Amino acid sequence: MTISLVKQAHNAISSCLLAGDIAVDATMGNGFDTCFLAKLVGEKGVVYSFDLQQPALEATRQRLHDNGLLQRVRLIQDNHSQISSYLAANHIGLIRCAMFNLGYLPGSDKTIQTEPTSTLEALNTLLSLLASPGMISLIAYTGHQGGQHEADKVKEWAQQLSKKEYRVSIEIPQAVKQSPPELILIESIK
Ligand SMILES: C[S@@+](CC[C@H](N)C(=O)[O-])C[C@H]1O[C@@H](n2cnc3c(N)ncnc32)[C@H](O)[C@@H]1O
Repeated sequence: MTISLVKQAHNAISSCLLAGDIAVDATMGNGFDTCFLAKLVGEKGVVYSFDLQQPALEATRQRLHDNGLLQRVRLIQDNHSQISSYLAANHIGLIRCAMFNLGYLPGSDKTIQTEPTSTLEALNTLLSLLASPGMISLIAYTGHQGGQHEADKVKEWAQQLSKKEYRVSIEIPQAVKQSPPELILIESIK
């Protein structure tokens, strides 16, 4: 049985993220990943969650509220490339995991989508703030305009990282459908 890339990303993050940890959802959207991270970090952990759009913050705030998880999440309406402006000083270097779900918010304005330049800026910043062991997961959707280009840029960036410091794995489901999504995992093993 094949498991979805979202499930694979969640399994990988679950193997790394512990109660009390700091996590980042770089692309909040409707809040499913934020909720997932908030459950794992527990009452003493913190999740920083970013999106450009107000509707994403509203949907996520409601979802967190309904699940009793709102207290552990900082909802931030800004570009994820600005993460260092929001991180508490005592969380620098302690981000255990970060998740990206690239693309646009389903059912919303498709012109607001992740872009390679700010995605790579956020990734470089996150590497400088990541704990070790630590992990970044990205799911890249390749069926929309610009999606494959962004996925290729992320893979190119990941593959030039020091192999002594980072383990990179890339999963592309074979021929299930045209333009399948891609999963990129970066683990800090310093
Ligand atoms: C595919 S959706 C994320 C879905 C989300 N993971 C969930 O669980 O529902 C991508 C989201 O990224 C947001 N986004 C696009 N560019 C962004 C940026 N530069 N910084 C932060 N969020 C961004 C979009 O507004 C959109 O809501």
